Amino acid sequence: MQTRRIGSDTVSAIGLGAMQLDDPPERLERAEPTMRAALDVGVTLVDTAIAYGPASLGADSMGANERLVASLLDRLGVKDKVFVATKGGHTRDAHGGWGLDSSAAGLRAAVDASLTNLGLEQIDLYQHHRPDPKVAYADVMGTLKEIHDAGKARMIGLSNADSDQIRVAHEILGDALVSVQNEFSPRFRSSEPELRLCDELGLAFLPWSPLGGARQAHGLGGRHTAFEDVADELGVSPQRVCLAWMLAKSPWSSRSRAPAARSRSSTRPQPPTSSSAPSSSPGWVSVSIQTDLGVAAEQVAGDDQPLHLIGTVIDPPQPRLAVPPLDG
Ligand SMILES: NC(=O)c1ccc[n+]([C@@H]2O[C@H](COP(=O)([O-])OP(=O)(O)OC[C@H]3O[C@@H](n4cnc5c(N)ncnc54)[C@H](OP(=O)(O)O)[C@@H]3O)[C@@H](O)[C@H]2O)c1
Repeated sequence: MQTRRIGSDTVSAIGLGAMQLDDPPERLERAEPTMRAALDVGVTLVDTAIAYGPASLGADSMGANERLVASLLDRLGVKDKVFVATKGGHTRDAHGGWGLDSSAAGLRAAVDASLTNLGLEQIDLYQHHRPDPKVAYADVMGTLKEIHDAGKARMIGLSNADSDQIRVAHEILGDALVSVQNEFSPRFRSSEPELRLCDELGLAFLPWSPLGGARQAHGLGGRHTAFEDVADELGVSPQRVCLAWMLAKSPWSSRSRAPAARSRSSTRPQPPTSSSAPSSSPGWVSVSIQTDLGVAAEQVAGDDQPLHLIGTVIDPPQPRLAVPPLDG
C-alpha cells in the first residue's frame, strides 16, 4: 500500500470509509470481515462521523458508526495503528433524518460525544461535516480552533466546503487545518477547483464516494467506459482503475513537506508490485497494479495536484480473512 500524508502524519493512500459498515443494518455481518480485509492490505486510515449509523435506530444512530469502528479496532488490536478521522456538524432526528447543527454548543457537545464513542482522549482528525446556513462559516471555524486548541482534536479538516470557505478556514485555523473531504468521482468532478486549492495550500484532499457511491459503484465501468477500457487491458476492475486515476491526480507522497511526526504503519508487510503496464486507450493514465487491493498510480501526464483518497475499496468484493483474531 502506498502512503500519503495528512498534516504531519503518514497514512495509507487509500482509506476505508466506514459509513456503510452498518447502514443498512444487514451489512453489519460484513463489518468485521471488511475491516479485517482493509487492515490486511495495509489500510491505516478509517473515516467515520458522529452522524453515521442506520436510520432504523432513529436518534440513536448518532454515534453508532463511531462505536462500531472503535469496537472493531479494539477487537482487532490495532487501535493505536489506525488513524481515525471523524466528523461533527450533522445530526440525526428521531426518524433517522439528517439535520445540521454547527452552533458552538452543538459542536462542543458533538466532539465530546465522539471522544467517548471512539474511546479516545484525542481525535486524530476532526472534520466539520457540512456548512450550516444558520451559522457564519468563520464562527464555525472559531469553534473548531477552540476544539483543536483544547487538545480534543490533533488536526482539523473540512468537508463539503467550497473554495471561499476553505480560504476562510485556512486563515482562521492556520496549520491546524490539514484536509478537505469533498465529493469527487468520475461522475462528480466539480470539486476540481477545491482540489487545486488544496494543492496550493498544502492540504490533503479526501474524495468521498470515489466510486460514485453505493448505488453507482458497481456500474462504474459501464457508465465511464474509459475506465473499463483500461481495466480490460490490464485485467483488473474499473474500480481499481478509478482509484488509480484519483491517486495519480496527486503523487503527493513523493513531495517534500514537513517530515512525518507520526506514522501509522501497515499491519502487514508491503506486498510486492506484481505488474506494471502503461495504458493505451484514454492515453492519460498509467498504472502499476499491486497484488493487494491497492492500486498505485504512477502518473497522469501534466497533472500533479495533491490528492488523498478515501473510500470503500474492497476488491475483490468478498473480503479475505487474513488478520487473525488476537483474543480468540
Ligand atoms: N463527507 C461527506 O459528506 C461524505 C458523504 C458520503 C460519503 N463519505 C465518505 O466516503 C466513504 C465512501 O463513500 P460511499 O460508500 O458512499 O461510496 P463509494 O466508496 O464510491 O462506493 C462504495 C461502494 O463501492 C462498492 N465497491 C467497493 N469496491 C468495489 C469494487 N472493487 N468493485 C465494485 N464495487 C466496489 C461497494 O459496494 P458493495 O458493498 O455492494 O460491494 C460499496 O458499497 C464513506 O464511507 C464515508 O466515509 C463522506
